[in-house]
Amino acid sequence: MRTLIKNATAVLPGEVLRTNVLIVDDRIATVDAAEHAEADEVVSAAGMHLLPGVIDDQVHFREPGLTHKEDLQHASRACAKGGVTTFLEMPNTVPNTVTQQRLNEKLELAARKSLVNFGFYIGATPNNLDDLRTAQRTPGIKIFIGSSTGDLLVDEQEALERIFAETTLPITAHCEDEATVRANQRRWADEHNVAVHSQIRDHRAAAIATSRAVDLARRHRHRFHVLHVSTGAEVDLFADHHGLLTAEVCPHHLFFSIDDYPRLGSLIQMNPSVKTREDNQQLWQALLDGRIQVIATDHAPHTLEEKRQPYPRSPSGLPAVENSLALLLDQVNRGRCTLQQVVHWMSDAPARVWDLVDKGRIQDGYQADLVLVDMQRVAEIRNEAQQTKCGWSPWHGQSLQGWPVRTWVMGREVFRDGRFDESVRGREAIYDHARGGYWSHA
Ligand code: DOR
Repeated sequence: MRTLIKNATAVLPGEVLRTNVLIVDDRIATVDAAEHAEADEVVSAAGMHLLPGVIDDQVHFREPGLTHKEDLQHASRACAKGGVTTFLEMPNTVPNTVTQQRLNEKLELAARKSLVNFGFYIGATPNNLDDLRTAQRTPGIKIFIGSSTGDLLVDEQEALERIFAETTLPITAHCEDEATVRANQRRWADEHNVAVHSQIRDHRAAAIATSRAVDLARRHRHRFHVLHVSTGAEVDLFADHHGLLTAEVCPHHLFFSIDDYPRLGSLIQMNPSVKTREDNQQLWQALLDGRIQVIATDHAPHTLEEKRQPYPRSPSGLPAVENSLALLLDQVNRGRCTLQQVVHWMSDAPARVWDLVDKGRIQDGYQADLVLVDMQRVAEIRNEAQQTKCGWSPWHGQSLQGWPVRTWVMGREVFRDGRFDESVRGREAIYDHARGGYWSHA
């Protein structure tokens, strides 16, 4: 199958160019095709921008075990609509993904159900070191240093030391200090206003755990990716990276703050919690100056019914995969960043961090995971239009300019103007961990 995307303004590594991109089967054959190159399908893309598909390296798609909140079919449709062509999913499903067998089961499930490409982390427990040492077909090891949804937690120093010392896969972690959070929970036990969530999971809890993890990574010289940084203070901890450390921020930590609790309540209850407007600004600045490299969503759906329970019974987590790219394209239109920066944060950088083979760039020979966006299109995020199974968005009612309109996964068009090709299946992401991660790439 040959598809010619004609006259698109393509965001290529290092330049933005009006060009014709030829896809042959599942690869980008050339980013500089002749206008009349032979093709089975010609896509007229004048006035549109062509980007590499988004790679979201932190999602919770709830399958198996929690499929009343989300499942791979709904979630991967949400990805296709949002321009996300590859997701890397977290291990706090039921059962937890803590062995090779559980990983293989998830991979098989996704191969059958997912419309976009996929990968799954292996979760650390205090006693699955052998599984972590030998795991294959995975981007890396996820540690909950601080508990969140589910029961995965590794808090003992000795267990953490051994994981960093004795494994070779890249490590990533949820960093909120368990002792601090528990002490704060006792202090605020009688408070049912959800805003207290940000005082329980406070700045200190984030800074203590991130600093502990960064210290482990440095001493053991182990590649480490800091998930969902929520405070400006944490950024200073890993600015001096020594080639080992990368970090990411989520849209909700860029765009929501404690000032939004009165309006949104538990819809913005997340772990780590949302912080102040000043943190929003500091995190944005850290993205702009390269101290944070990646944007991912931490898409973590719960039903509205679950969310409506009084705090602290209301669970933490919000859905975001179908709106993350649009939220950032809107920022481009507001002049806060460039399209090239967005492509770096959401496609190129996550591909490098996780050693994904031939992904994250529009380049000859790379995989044809692409998204066509209309930077002029203005539309509102509406709960009733969400593909995620939970059926709501914390950004409901917000109008954005700049939206994905067509998405290709491995050369096949999976989404076009609100419609899905349900016959498309994504593929398992391939990792080449010998590549050495983000800092070893130009
Ligand atoms: O708020 C959160 N919810 N943070 C996490 O890290 C996990 C997630 C979930 O799985 O619900």
